[in-house]
Amino acid sequence: MTEKGLKKIDEILDLYAGRVNQQLESRLPLASEPPSVLHDAMRYAVLGHGKRIRPVLLYATGEALNVPLDKLDCAACAVELIHGYSLIHDDLPAMDDDDLRRGQPTCHKAFGEANAILAGDALQGLAFSVLANDPANPPDRRMKMVSLLSHHAGSRGMVGGQAIDLAAVNKTLDEAELDNMHRLKTGAMIKTSVLMAVIASELNTPDVYERFSRFADCIGLLFQIRDDILDIQSDTEILGKPQGSDAAQNKPTYPSTVGMEHAEHKVEQLFRQACDEIDHLDFQWNSLYAVIEYIIKRIS
Ligand code: IPE
Ligand code: IPE
Ligand code: MG
Ligand code: MG
Ligand code: MG
Repeated sequence: MTEKGLKKIDEILDLYAGRVNQQLESRLPLASEPPSVLHDAMRYAVLGHGKRIRPVLLYATGEALNVPLDKLDCAACAVELIHGYSLIHDDLPAMDDDDLRRGQPTCHKAFGEANAILAGDALQGLAFSVLANDPANPPDRRMKMVSLLSHHAGSRGMVGGQAIDLAAVNKTLDEAELDNMHRLKTGAMIKTSVLMAVIASELNTPDVYERFSRFADCIGLLFQIRDDILDIQSDTEILGKPQGSDAAQNKPTYPSTVGMEHAEHKVEQLFRQACDEIDHLDFQWNSLYAVIEYIIKRIS
């Protein structure tokens, strides 16, 4: 790992989160366009104070693989739009029944359940439209990205993980079952974010793709373990979402299943495993490394 060109995490977040925020702002329909309440709800949910981790990971992976930023913009928007939709639905009374998200009332609290469901649906459609119409990538790459996203957003990815999560309420899972649930509900979209950038790169080979895939698998799992830990250790104001939501609903989480110490140890272990996959490759991956460090040290 080289020290050359080392950027601080604040700089990286400003650059990449700022960039995707601009992209999202320009691609979301204006609230003045009818149906106004629906468009308002979509903008409210997406443009709130999210960390933009998935787009930031995508851009940082692209930076490692020498991809011009404009070839990453549509993919970065698409993953954040799917993520935004998943959060709206995750918070609904039928799912986690949470009232606060990103420091503001959840979408269904602000706009009503029906509008929130529709806003989520429409964000999913918009994500695929943005990707399919990406002017910066040739059709074959766009098709690979659409295929990747559709797989990982669906029943064999994020939505499948959410179904397992709901079925696990009031139950205990073993560590392997928990890993599977976390890899699907959260890991799938983290992996998609990293692999979108690999697809956009001229340096993409089967070996590189597989290595980044294994790398992202570790990051996706550790991201959700950290989320479970923060649900216990952080507080509502810092999180911008209700602390203790998992325990209140009796959901099996990493700390509740294997204990806090083992959960924290697993995050460290996955971090090392992730680095081992890629750090010998001759890529500019300082920013990516800084983003991973931020993911494991974050407090919200
Ligand atoms: C929250 O994701 C949902 C999970 C998959 C754990 P983030 O922690 O990335 O939430 P935002 O986007 O910053 O609000
Ligand atoms: C949510 O997991 C995963 C998705 C939204 C796909 P959580 O239910 O743990 O996320 P938070 O804690 O509400 O953000
Ligand atoms: Mg949930
Ligand atoms: Mg939730
Ligand atoms: Mg959570």
